[in-house]
Parts: sequence; C-alpha cells; structure tokens
Amino acid sequence: MNTKPQADDARPGRAPAGGQRRMIDSHGRTIRDLRLSITDRCNFRCVYCMDPGVRFMPSEELLQPREMARLAGLCVGLGVEKVRITGGEPTLHPALEEIIRGVAATGVGDIAMTTNGWRIGGDECRAWKAAGLTRLTVSIDSLNEEKFSTLTRSSTGAADVVRSIDCARGAGFDRVKANAVVVRGLNEDEVPALAGLARTLGIEMRFIEYMPLDSGRAWEPGLLVPAAEIIERINAVTPLREVGRDEPSSTALVYEFADGAPGRIGVIAPVTAPFCGACARLRITADGKVRPCLFSLKEWDLRPLLRGGAGDREIEEFLIDVTWTKQAGHGISASGFEQPARSMSAIGG
Ligand code: 5AD
Ligand code: SF4
Repeated sequence: MNTKPQADDARPGRAPAGGQRRMIDSHGRTIRDLRLSITDRCNFRCVYCMDPGVRFMPSEELLQPREMARLAGLCVGLGVEKVRITGGEPTLHPALEEIIRGVAATGVGDIAMTTNGWRIGGDECRAWKAAGLTRLTVSIDSLNEEKFSTLTRSSTGAADVVRSIDCARGAGFDRVKANAVVVRGLNEDEVPALAGLARTLGIEMRFIEYMPLDSGRAWEPGLLVPAAEIIERINAVTPLREVGRDEPSSTALVYEFADGAPGRIGVIAPVTAPFCGACARLRITADGKVRPCLFSLKEWDLRPLLRGGAGDREIEEFLIDVTWTKQAGHGISASGFEQPARSMSAIGG
C-alpha cells in the first residue's frame, strides 16, 4: 500500500514526525480515550437522537469483532488508556462479549460501555464483567413513564431502566453512571427527581445539554436547557457543592450533595461551556470510519486498510495522521455551523 504523503480525500496529510508514537493533534491535544461504536442499531428511538424512519447501515459494512479488537490494540499501543464501547445500542450486538474480550486483551485497564439499559440483569452483568468490562453508563431521561415513553419512543419502561441501573450497581462495576439528555418542554421538570435517583442509588447522575446531533434535525437553540439552569433546578431542592472535573479532559463537571448524601451529579455542557480545549477523545464508527470530533464533517475510512492487508504500522500512521486533523472545537454557537450528516446513534456517544 502507498504510504507516501498524500492529501487526497481518502487519506489525511502527514502529521509531523514526532519522537513519540502518540496520536497528537495540531492543537497539542493527545488522544487517550477511544470511543468505539460497535453498532448503529438501536431498539429505542430517542427524540434527540434517532428519527423513527432512520435507516441502519448494511451489515457487511460493519466492522467484525476481530477488526475492532485490532484497532483497539493499535490505539492502546499509541497511548489510549480508556475505551468506551458505544452504539447505537451495544447490547444488541450478538458478539458483545467477544468484543469486550477483544478490547480487554489489549491490556487497557478501563473499559466502559454506554447502554440504554433495556437489557441489564445479573447474568448480563456477570458475563460482561468476566469478559473485562469495568464500567457502565446507563441512559435514563425521566422517571415518569409517560415522559420516558415520549422521549425514548420505546416499550421499555423507566422502572425497567431503574432496575437495570440498580442491577449494574449491585454487580460491582467501578462507577455506575446514568445519563439524561435534557430537552426543553420534555423533561427539564424531571431533573430534581433524577438527581434524587443519584442519592438513593449512590450513583453519578449526569445531565447532558442537547446537541445538534439528532437524525431528525429538530435541534434548535430553544430546545436547549443550559447547564446553569439544570444546576439551579437541583440546588432549589437539594443543595450541591461543586467538586470539579475528575480529569482535565472529562466532559462532566461534577457536584456532590451539600448534605453529604451518597451519589454525585455531573453536568455536561458542550453548548454553553464547551470543553473542546482539553478533549482527548477519538471515535471509530461501527462501519470503520475515524472521526476526530463528534462534529467532524470529514471522516476517514479504515476499512480499505483493514481489508486491504495493511500492516499495523501503516494503520498506526493513518491514525496518527487523522488525529492531526482534529478540529479545535465544534463551533455549535458560531455562525455557519454545520450539523454532521451522522446522528449520535451512528457516531457513538
Ligand atoms: N445530545 C446530547 N446527548 C445525546 N445523546 C444522544 N443524542 C444526543 C444529543 N443529540 C446521548 C445519549 C447517551 C449518549 C450515548 O449520548 O443520551 O447517553
Ligand atoms: Fe438509541 Fe441511545 Fe440514540 Fe436513544 S440515544 S435512540 S438509546 S442510540
């Protein structure tokens, strides 16, 4: 395969040769966190993510578990310390355990997964843990069944997902987190009740500002509930104390309950308080495209390399070069902002 510098559409220009073999972008950020989307399929149709009429990618375009494991291994060799398995809904993948085992075999210590929580029982937790999964994040946008069903357009109930979260917690995963995307007019009044769940279950409940990544393109600034308002709504009921970010590159600003109750609150404010400057994330989609940013308009195809016999060194160079192109930020609030063609479900959260 041709490894000479090229600036065509299929391959990035060359990153300057550095001493270290690391994925570093042109703004000085180093990649430590890989988000691996293993499927774009989902059994929910959350309003902020997937249109009911969404079309999934053909199966033959999706990476095989061994291809995912190979890529994860190369990324770990280039300095990745954390892998998050995402979807779509990763638990729909028939080879999920094999994929987790493949990622664990790279030696990376921190393997998390984000799920909608429709299928978490003791057996699943034990199998995923045995395969090497260390952390779990479950999405739950409302405790009110009617609102939950409006938001997720699914037959799974909020109570089922609460049971799933409790089960994950009982299974002894490192830190169980729950995610809620807050959408104006749909669930901002549910914020205090969800914060209460953090207290009763002793988990970290994270509230996420709605981003323009929905396949239905319904996002508009008026639907955004700013992080400051989310915190105010919780503070009014149960006062919080700011803790800070777990790591500089963490998406969430974390709070504890002022009365010392267990559980934590996290707010993820990509729109009102962007955290792009410290981003350490790189994404690989289920069909093998590298996306340096959630909001990348250009993505880079790994499949021709994977399926064309490329050696490890060549794929590593490609990842290093792609990382160099990582944009400084998302520019959601800038004039001329362009929403990427892929929705969150086809990128991976
Ligand atoms: N804005 C913010 N968060 C989103 N997610 C999905 N779509 C959006 C969006 N448009 C979240 C899900 C899940 C994680 C993978 O991404 O709720 O928790
Ligand atoms: Fe499925 Fe997650 Fe998108 Fe909801 S947010 S439709 S659970 S991929």
